[in-house]
Amino acid sequence: MHKITIAIDGFSGTGKSSTAKKVAGELGYTYIDSGAMYRATTLYFLEQDVSLDDASQVEHALDTLDIRFEEGHVLLNGQDVSNEIRTMRVNEHVSAVSTIAVVRHAMVAQQQKIGKGKGIVMDGRDIGTVVFPDAELKVFMTANTRIRAERRQSELAEKGIIEELNVIENNLSQRDEIDSTRSESPLRKAEDAVEIDTSNLTFADQVHKIVSLAKEKI
Ligand code: C5P
Repeated sequence: MHKITIAIDGFSGTGKSSTAKKVAGELGYTYIDSGAMYRATTLYFLEQDVSLDDASQVEHALDTLDIRFEEGHVLLNGQDVSNEIRTMRVNEHVSAVSTIAVVRHAMVAQQQKIGKGKGIVMDGRDIGTVVFPDAELKVFMTANTRIRAERRQSELAEKGIIEELNVIENNLSQRDEIDSTRSESPLRKAEDAVEIDTSNLTFADQVHKIVSLAKEKI
């Protein structure tokens, strides 16, 4: 069967990752969480005490960094960091790391390589605009900030991480601001993307909507 590329972009906490994962499952496609790659890079930079203003330190760190996805887990230089990359410590630094051009170039190159064979659903901030500008289906997800914070809070709680709602809400707003205003591939809706406001949609509705759109293209 004809395989397509599905790009899902949008603000933090709109449910992109869980929706993209489920859509991929229903279509028998591979799901790639591009945010996890920026998160793993951020964790590595924190561990290595990389100064973000020092280009040679950043480049050296990128050269010694290996990120892989294995059976739903994120491996950073062979170590499973799936839970660690979701902590507030990483949340607080990831958008700053993601503004660095060389970081973005390295991530985009790896993402394009992973997605070469199509049959993938990738979610992020620049997937429909930069990583796969020719994707057959592009979705841009939005949702009210408070609702996003509540959803993120329950996701964290499921992982045993307890965080206050306003701390989460502030972090989401801050990341949206940095992600939308950076000079290198800022978060924006691709002209040919379908916008879905998930504020009043159930998870099943979101998934159904995207799967239906995909089936029109397959
Ligand atoms: O998707 P998630 O919230 O896990 O992404 C974490 C952060 O990584 C975002 O706030 C953004 O700064 C960065 N990111 C990005 N480009 C992507 C995916 C994520 O800049 N394609």
